[in-house]
Order: sequence, then C-alpha cells, then structure tokens
Amino acid sequence: MPTPAAAPGGALPTLADMIAELASIRPLEESVVRCLALLVGAVGAHEASIWLHAPDVLVRAWGVGGPETSAAEVEHAREQPAAAPMLRAVDIAAGDRPAGALVVRLTRTLAADEELVVRALANLLAPELAHAEKSRQLEVEVEARTAEIDRERRFTEKIIDALPVGLYVIDREYRIQAWNRKRETGMQGVSREEAIGRTIFEILHRQPSEMLRREFDEVFTTGRIQEYQMESLATGELRTYRITKIPMRLGDSAVTHVITTGEDVTDWKEAQQRFAQAEKLAAIGQLAAGVMHEINNPLATIAACAESLGFKLGDARKAGSVIPTDADEYLHIIDNEVSRCKQIVDGLLDFSRPKQALKERVDLNEVIERTLLLLKHHVRFKKLTVSTEFDATLERIPQANAEQLVQVFMALLLNAMDAMGDRGSVVLRTRRGRTNDEGAIAEVIDQGHGIARSELSKIFEPFYTTKAPGRGTGLGLSICYGIIQEHGGRIEVDSVLGQGSTFRLILPTVGHR
Ligand SMILES: Nc1ncnc2c1ncn2[C@@H]1O[C@H](COP(=O)(O)OP(=O)(O)OP(=O)(O)O)[C@@H](O)[C@H]1O
Ligand SMILES: [Mg+2]
Repeated sequence: MPTPAAAPGGALPTLADMIAELASIRPLEESVVRCLALLVGAVGAHEASIWLHAPDVLVRAWGVGGPETSAAEVEHAREQPAAAPMLRAVDIAAGDRPAGALVVRLTRTLAADEELVVRALANLLAPELAHAEKSRQLEVEVEARTAEIDRERRFTEKIIDALPVGLYVIDREYRIQAWNRKRETGMQGVSREEAIGRTIFEILHRQPSEMLRREFDEVFTTGRIQEYQMESLATGELRTYRITKIPMRLGDSAVTHVITTGEDVTDWKEAQQRFAQAEKLAAIGQLAAGVMHEINNPLATIAACAESLGFKLGDARKAGSVIPTDADEYLHIIDNEVSRCKQIVDGLLDFSRPKQALKERVDLNEVIERTLLLLKHHVRFKKLTVSTEFDATLERIPQANAEQLVQVFMALLLNAMDAMGDRGSVVLRTRRGRTNDEGAIAEVIDQGHGIARSELSKIFEPFYTTKAPGRGTGLGLSICYGIIQEHGGRIEVDSVLGQGSTFRLILPTVGHR
C-alpha cells in the first residue's frame, strides 16, 4: 500500500495535508471535500468527486469543480479505463467489498507521482467511507424498520379501531397505552390524545379508583382473565356491559399490561331472557294442555250428570215426590262452578295452543278502535281518559285474526284499568317498526302502579296474579302471550314502579310460518 513517505516529492505536501485533513475533528464530508479540493489543485483537474455504492448503483456523494461527471460516465471509465483516458475512476475498497470510487476529470494525463497521490487518497478514504457507509446502511435500516413498525402499528390500530367493543390497554403504572375508536365515541367518549399516557383513574374518574385498582391488580397478580357484567346509565338508559380484563405479557413471564374490553350486551341479554322466558312458558303450556285435556272430560261428565239429575228431580217432583228445595240450589252451584272451570280450561288452552283461527289482513288501528268501542260501556272505563295516537301509515298485518287481537287489547286495557284505579289516562299508540319482522308496533301505556322488576318475568305465567281472590285468575296476559306468539310476534313490557307500564306488541308485517 502506498504511504505518504513513498509518494514522490512534489505531491508530498498535498498528501500530508490530506492526511491531516482526514485526521481532523471536522465532520467527514467537510474533510472529504477539502481533500478533493487539494487534489484538484495538485493535479490541475476539472473536477474530483466521491461516489458511493447505494447499494447497487453508484451515487455521487461529494464533489469539487465541474462540470459534474455523470453516473454513466463513471461506469464507463471504471469498465473501460483505456477508452476514457481523461476520467480516472479509482475504486475505494472497504474490506473485500467496493465502497465507492474516487473520480477525477483530468485536464491532462497524470504523471506517475500524481497517479500515486490519487490512489493514496482513495486508500486513505477507504476506512472512513466504509464507516460512513455502515452508519448510512444502519440509518437506512433503522428508517425501514421504523416505517415497518409504523405500518404494523397502524395496522394494529386499524384492527382495534374496527372492533365493535371499547378497548384500552394499561401498563403496570396503570397508564393508558392504547385507547380505541369505540372509547372515543359516545356520551362519555374521551379522545385518544387525551387518554394515552394518563392513568386510568384520571380518565375513568366516575368509577371508584380503589375498585378499579383492585380489578387490575387481580389480573396483574393472578395472570388470569377476569370477566364480569356491569350496568350503566351513562348513555341515558340502562345498558349492560360485559367487561373483560385480559393479561398481556411483553416478555415471557410477568404480566406487563392489562387489556380491557367493554361490550354492550344489553340486546343479547334481553334476547337471552326472552328466549328463557319463551322456553319456560312453552313448557308450562305443554303441561297445561295435557292437564286441561284430562280435566275437560270429567268436567263434561259432571255437567251432563248434573243436567240429567235436574231432569230427574223435575220428573220426580211432577210425580208428587217431595224434593228438598236445597237440591235445585246445589245443582245450580254445580252448574256455575263447572262453567267457571270450563272458562279456565279454555283460557289455558288458548295460552298453550290458541285456536288456529282464520287469518286475514288486519289493520291494527281498526282492531284498537273496535276494542275501545266494546269497552266503552264498561263502568270503570268511563272514568279513565283514553287517547289514541295512531300512525296512519301503519302497514296491515297480513296474517292475523282480528277477534283474537281484540281479545289481547281488551286484556291489556282491563289490566291498565286495574292498575290505575279510578284515575289516570291510558294512551294507545301505534307506529311502524324498523324491519318487516317487527313491522307493526302497538303500545298500551298506562299510569298505573307499575310492576316490580323482579315480577316482570312472571306476569305472563298462567295463574300469576296480584289481584284479590275473585278479581283475577292470572290468565289474561298468558292468553295474550299465546295469541301474539301464534301471530309470529312478541310482547315487551317496560315498567317503572309507581309511574306506570307500557305493554308493547310487536307484530310482523310479512307472512310468517
Ligand atoms: N298494566 C299493568 N300494570 C301493573 N301490573 C300489571 C299490569 N298488567 C298486568 N299486571 C300484573 O300482572 C299480573 C298478571 O296479569 P294477568 O292479566 O295475566 O292476570 P290478572 O289481571 O291478575 O287476572 P285476569 O287477567 O286473568 O283477570 C296482574 O295480576 C298484575 O299484577
Ligand atoms: Mg288481566
């Protein structure tokens, strides 16, 4: 390798300057540019430049003088040096790989010692450039990795934002590290910028911090998923949320973060309850149908026997026999009680298997009008205010039995009357539903005493009544339930104790079954 000492006389001071320059504490580029300037001066060149491999093509990194040599010219000079005698391109090797090239555009051919200076400079620059190239490679790699991480993070963010559940992640210090879109929206939404980095206690300040801390600590210490349900009035109505706290480990062992998801399960829970209730009522219905069938026959026998006994007593009386007067009365009682039993049996059968009555297109508004007409003469009904709010655009129900629906509204109105005593008002309202399956909705809204939450699940059961003996059999709502079920619809109840109840019939406006 040529050393400064081996370089011939005239060029030596320049070479020494170059070494001093490269050994200076100046930034590399500045030193390189100064060296190039020295070189241009020493050999009287037009231009000198340093080219680097980036990584497959050569790119001009620094240069002095002009006009600038092009990449194509440099390649040409490297491949066929003899064809471009006025352009010297000396490779700069970094270990066993070329790091770049020192290119000099000459004004004349170089003397041997000048040629040595050019090569010496290329050799001097090699380690520096190799180093510079490495850090450049590192920089490029870091940039690429950062971009990749950014892409991955955006991808993960997109995923958690697309989730239909609220999600956030806290670290060991209870600081929020992730906060998804769902948590930004809604009445109590908090923006991501506001949440990230703050402690969860600052953000969820409505919840008791001790309780929150306990819940998170449980996951941090046990490493197990925790799940529970929570009711909240945050949206203005009572909603149920399923909260899940999931442990997350960045390393191998300890839990480093806790992921919390919150899912609104109100509809699911209601559907679940409806389903459970429908199953229970179906089971009761089956039982009732079986028992009623068994009771119907003996009842018919008792009624027939009582009737023929009546005839026989009549005949005997005509024949002059003395019959105790009580006998007629007893027969009358038997008759009355038998019809009462028959009514109950019919009611129960209506609940379990409403008669397959003729079905036709029915206008729900008309059904309500008819019910009101029938009830108009009821003494207690006269004292109440009944108003209607009909949706004139309400679609007809294609397969319905008006008689049965009148029976339903009658039962609901009688219940409303019982619940209100002598004062108050009932509103009958109809409106269109959102889907054809739930196309027509009718509500009976009263201002009665209401129904306790705990009782709501029982009111459709046959014989459930809170009325005094003789006032109610507890069959009204179970019959309504059976009829509406048979119409492919359902009944919902909202009730607030002491304020009133709303019974809502939801019927399909498309054919069913
Ligand atoms: N509008 C209402 N307001 C308050 N409570 C009600 C209302 N409707 C029904 N209930 C409650 O539900 C119970 C069951 O009602 P359901 O109509 O099935 O039977 P009932 O009215 O007691 O007797 P029946 O209708 O057979 O004469 C009632 O006893 C009452 O406690
Ligand atoms: Mg009733």
